[in-house]
Amino acid sequence: MTAVTATTPDAFRPAMHYAARDTWLNDPNGLIFHDGLYHLYYQNNPEGSVWGNMSWGHATSADLVTWTEHPVAIACDEQEEIYSGSIIFDRHNTSGFGTGSRPPLVAVYTSAFKPASEHKGVQAQSLAYSLDGGYTWTKYADNPVLNRGSSEFRDPKVFRYESDAERYWVMVAVEAQDFKVVLYSSPDLKNWELLSTFGPANATGGVWECPDLFPVPVDGDPENLKWVLTVNLNPGGPNSGSAGQYFVGDFDGVTFTSSSTVTEGAQDPDKLCEYQWLDWGRDYYAAVSFSDVPDGRRLMIAWMNNWQYAIEIPTAPWRSPMSLVREVSLQNVDGNPRLVQHVAQELTSLPAGNPPFTASPGEIAEGKHILAGAAGSVQRIEASLAPGTAEEFGLIVRGHGTRGTRIGIRPAEGRIVVDRRESGQTAFHESFASIDSAPIQPTANSYEVTIYVDQCSVEVFAQGGQVTLTELIFPNSTSTDVSVYASGGAATINSLTITQYA
Ligand code: FRU
Repeated sequence: MTAVTATTPDAFRPAMHYAARDTWLNDPNGLIFHDGLYHLYYQNNPEGSVWGNMSWGHATSADLVTWTEHPVAIACDEQEEIYSGSIIFDRHNTSGFGTGSRPPLVAVYTSAFKPASEHKGVQAQSLAYSLDGGYTWTKYADNPVLNRGSSEFRDPKVFRYESDAERYWVMVAVEAQDFKVVLYSSPDLKNWELLSTFGPANATGGVWECPDLFPVPVDGDPENLKWVLTVNLNPGGPNSGSAGQYFVGDFDGVTFTSSSTVTEGAQDPDKLCEYQWLDWGRDYYAAVSFSDVPDGRRLMIAWMNNWQYAIEIPTAPWRSPMSLVREVSLQNVDGNPRLVQHVAQELTSLPAGNPPFTASPGEIAEGKHILAGAAGSVQRIEASLAPGTAEEFGLIVRGHGTRGTRIGIRPAEGRIVVDRRESGQTAFHESFASIDSAPIQPTANSYEVTIYVDQCSVEVFAQGGQVTLTELIFPNSTSTDVSVYASGGAATINSLTITQYA
């Protein structure tokens, strides 16, 4: 973790989240665990702190907590920008880029061709390979390897499909403006054949981007595998702007069949709440999963920002953090498999800076109550709260005076809200000051909520990880109070623990 004090010029720099040293980043790319390290590549402008000169930045971590930034891995040139994509370990050297004893890592990325290129205006899929474990990359001389002549064909995620009978590479990518995921197969990463398409379905309020497709056991049962197709869309999220949705279903090596489609074709605006969302907050976009994680864990990370205001957020000289790394699993909920998310155990087992703060169980009387001894800017809050007569109750974090970020339960509405209207700097964009919400149901008459606060963000995990809300905030460094509150009546603390980091 990077220690940050209030006097550091870039005081919003997170302690537990990755942000580039002094440049812009957006989507995570090429996520892979390889030779004992997690590799995080990302959309990066090596020249500045707004979007442009798209190249792949690079960082590595042994523990998902401390990240080391490396030189740009794949750089744009006069012909192409390097848009999002993925990396696979080609262990059998199917591509021929390595040797039997030195198999390559292969990056599959979108070439967004510039006016100087013979392919100008086209987005097509290209390859680069690394023989030194992911630090230096060579672009394939015969790029692009998959060109549909489209200007909106991007974000390839490639994985190895293996059944008893066959094995081959599968690519999922998007035709962004058609709200379609396109699936291709290849024996060697160079020659691709169309398998099938999926969509439009459920949310189509904005272009579809950055898809992913992976198998997950339901309730941990390896005999009951379901496939999860994630699709990010911009705009059109449940609280406006960028967001990610997912579908659960089956994949037979050719076609993905969804069992969680609510609407086919164009979305029904009244059904937005019935679609499955990766996160209900404003700042969780372009989420994709790591390849080759040991023990079959499925780990995901997202860009913690929203295209509505991304280039205006008040951080300098860097701009945009990544989310925390999340482990996702499937749980049967009322007979339907649903994605459940928890912060990766590497982060939850971090040593705390101080002994944890605990509040005694008891009533939250109407009003706001500062918890003496709980203040902090980098903390995990684990709360179990029971409703009473209050219309709304919950926690206020990064508070000072009347300011703070409110995370509240409204039992009658069945909603959890994150209110960042008084969260600090909000005026940099008209849509930033917002009150955002997600559906929530109590378990045995109580609400279990875990909140990660880290300098410029709150990530809320509720209802056992079925509901998450991720939001950026830009409070003063002196706004560190934590309070509980109840309005229109009282509520109850069953338990409340706050672990301080940094
Ligand atoms: C998503 C996205 C991708 C594209 C990349 C360009 O945020 O628009 O579709 O590949 O960003 O930076």
